[in-house]
Amino acid sequence: MILDKHEKGSTLRIAVLASGRGSNFEALCKGDTGNGRISLLLTDNENADVLRKASELGVEGIYLSPGRYRTKFGEAEEMEWTRLLKDRGIELVCLAGLMRIIKGSILEEYEGRIMNIHPALLPSFPGLHAQKQALDHGVRITGCTVHFVDAGIDTGPIILQKAVHVKDDDTVETLSSRILEQEHIAYSEAVKLYCGGTLPASQGHIFKRE
Ligand code: GRF
Repeated sequence: MILDKHEKGSTLRIAVLASGRGSNFEALCKGDTGNGRISLLLTDNENADVLRKASELGVEGIYLSPGRYRTKFGEAEEMEWTRLLKDRGIELVCLAGLMRIIKGSILEEYEGRIMNIHPALLPSFPGLHAQKQALDHGVRITGCTVHFVDAGIDTGPIILQKAVHVKDDDTVETLSSRILEQEHIAYSEAVKLYCGGTLPASQGHIFKRE
């Protein structure tokens, strides 16, 4: 995958895809994303808090059916999502708590232009419940990772990471909340880097992990 670098100067339209609370969406809307502008929120959950946040923040928020599966898109539905992203002129897609795997037309259309935020220092603790995985393993440092999305689960090229120390008395809740603070900083920083066309050259390659 050759990662696309945005041309310096012009405004870049960004869509956030989310399923739930939407704190990263809000942080992206309020943060410094350089030339990037969050212009669309797409969700697979009509009751998601993130939809309410979008309307409060004046961002177009749309629920679109994901199809009949629980953790992936139906083929036809994913094509609808892709069509909408293209119709709105979206150039960068940011996943922020989307509880679904992207494998079909969105990935084909936007490969190298889809980011995700994960609440652990990848490649450690991919998948669900990353904060609990970190506690269960007894690591002393964990954190968050912003990475490009490929066909695997949390396996794409890493853009940036923030470390968080684990305290002796941490619970999943206390640790998650300190990681979340760092997520909110990291995501805007990564988007700003992308939009400024200043991602380091090493981010231009896939690191294949088996
Ligand atoms: C975050 O912890 C993010 O790392 C993970 O899903 C959660 C979404 O939280 N991918 P929010 O909806 O942005 O508050």
